[in-house]
Amino acid sequence: MTNPTIRFLLDDNGASLAEDVLSGLSRQPKAIPSKWFYDDRGSELFEEITSLPEYYVTRKEEEILLQRSPEIAQLSKAAELVELGAGNSEKTRALLDALSVPNNGSRLERFVLFDVSEDAVRQTAAALTTQYPQLAIEGIVGDFDHHLDEIDHSYRCLFIFLGGTIGNLNPAEREDFLTDVAFSMKPGDTFLLGTDLVKSPEHLHAAYNDAQGITADFNLNILKVINRELDANFKLDQFQHVAFWDAENSWIEMRLKSLCDQEVLIGSLNLDVSFGTGEEMRTEISTKFLSDQVASELNQAGLKVLKRWTDSERFFQLTLAQAVC
Ligand code: SAH
Ligand code: AVI
Repeated sequence: MTNPTIRFLLDDNGASLAEDVLSGLSRQPKAIPSKWFYDDRGSELFEEITSLPEYYVTRKEEEILLQRSPEIAQLSKAAELVELGAGNSEKTRALLDALSVPNNGSRLERFVLFDVSEDAVRQTAAALTTQYPQLAIEGIVGDFDHHLDEIDHSYRCLFIFLGGTIGNLNPAEREDFLTDVAFSMKPGDTFLLGTDLVKSPEHLHAAYNDAQGITADFNLNILKVINRELDANFKLDQFQHVAFWDAENSWIEMRLKSLCDQEVLIGSLNLDVSFGTGEEMRTEISTKFLSDQVASELNQAGLKVLKRWTDSERFFQLTLAQAVC
């Protein structure tokens, strides 16, 4: 067994977290980008979320992948798979298996997993190297807001972005992201996108306010990340998890609410930040889509839909698209 190659594209000194915290805490209302949830503990908490009874997202997407991976493999004819925001690539194994079956003389040769979380990249790349010794595996620690142009591929490639993570980007960020993906694609390449669909507010509310409080711990973990990385002194027991359905924007919004008037020092930035009692800081949006909206956003970015699939309850959708050259 050969070791996976790991490439590190993030700046080593936490400069981008510092920039995001400085700008996010200096504006009103305050906000921190959700990509900073995923340190080692944050990735673990997300994995716990995926098996909560209320969090249907992962199970629904897995249902589609288990059923449709052979068809996706046939349509894409990919010899290379690039996964953006891979996390533990758990559901991706269905695609890796389907693509590993020889298809018209080609079969999967290479898997690239790309994530902002170094722990996730290292652990997943190591596990997959053991499980798929025939594949060349590369892990990239990078930010898909900045580094998509640094992923190179030599074979016919299937790019995948699963889990509904596209919903964590705002509309302008989504447009940039999809345009960057389209730009990275060569003729014949395909893109598989997982999107959570609009459903009853009750289902949505429960999924982000679970009874065991794991989502609350996940949300609060972002303060631990800032405390550790930027020498800050957020007191976690003085903030509370909030998640609500914003029907106008068609997203779940997660916030952290300050339970008292307080000052927080961000040591590395030499910054004092005041929070009033009841003040809420946004930590994540999770957009829920209509099927046609997904197609039109892909089209807008120069990607043409080949096929879409949903689960039995129409909770989640996978869309396969190709670049219009
Ligand atoms: N794809 C997996 C994980 C989803 S969780 C699944 O479907 O279960 C979202 C993943 O995206 C996390 O692993 C997180 O670290 C990663 N992520 C979030 N923002 C990112 C960014 N800007 N660049 C790269 N990865 C990012
Ligand atoms: C990764 N992402 C798609 C998850 C979501 O549902 O938006 C993150 C998450 N936030 C709270 N629970 C799960």
